[in-house]
Amino acid sequence: MRLAKFLAHAGVASRRAAERLVTDGRVRVAGRPVTDPARDVDESSDVTVDGRAVTIEPREVHALHKPEGVVSTAEDTHGRPTVVGLVPSERRLYPVGRLDADTTGLILLTNDGELAELLTHPRHGVQKTYRVRVDPPMVSERSLRALREGVELEDGRSSPAEARLVAPGVVELTIREGRKRQVRRMCEAVGHDVRALQRTAFGPLYLERLPPGESRRLSAAEVERLRAAPGWKNQGG
Ligand code: URA
Repeated sequence: MRLAKFLAHAGVASRRAAERLVTDGRVRVAGRPVTDPARDVDESSDVTVDGRAVTIEPREVHALHKPEGVVSTAEDTHGRPTVVGLVPSERRLYPVGRLDADTTGLILLTNDGELAELLTHPRHGVQKTYRVRVDPPMVSERSLRALREGVELEDGRSSPAEARLVAPGVVELTIREGRKRQVRRMCEAVGHDVRALQRTAFGPLYLERLPPGESRRLSAAEVERLRAAPGWKNQGG
């Protein structure tokens, strides 16, 4: 298989990040530097990254209820706790997409680079649902309609979304994009500050009663449902 795919399979990085590792010259095959991500390799090829041997390991996917103040990068330069540190696993996991440090809720971690790519690539438009406590709490039907139809953001108009008021001052928003601070910016665009933001669903998976700071490993059936997530549509919303 292609070298970049092999690295993603091995859980070294997402497919895109793996391609960069290769083009940056950090990967060797049988002792020789290789900069072509399409180079054909298999498990007997003696692949190393920064001198460390790469082997294909069993895939894991975990769901974590990210608490506030925890960052969703693999490491934090400011020494803050990371989502990776909250998930007990022998594998080298990394987060699927990002949540802001002050956002809580469902985040997935995996060593399956291909799955991570599938779930985060904008082309696939996997839907994510957020509960947003807004201020001021009175949300007009006009604002909800604007959120549904798309609002002007500095990096372009947001795509059609689902938006409904589920409690006074609480909006449930389902989007298929994942731009930086998108939900916060969408709410600000219709005149509301975000006081609290929680992700309650990622594709077919729900946060449910997972307590903050806790994680659970997904079953094979759940992983299969996730794999089918591109194109999956919530029937209830
Ligand atoms: N939108 C945001 O603004 N923040 C998040 O963490 C996720 C979505």
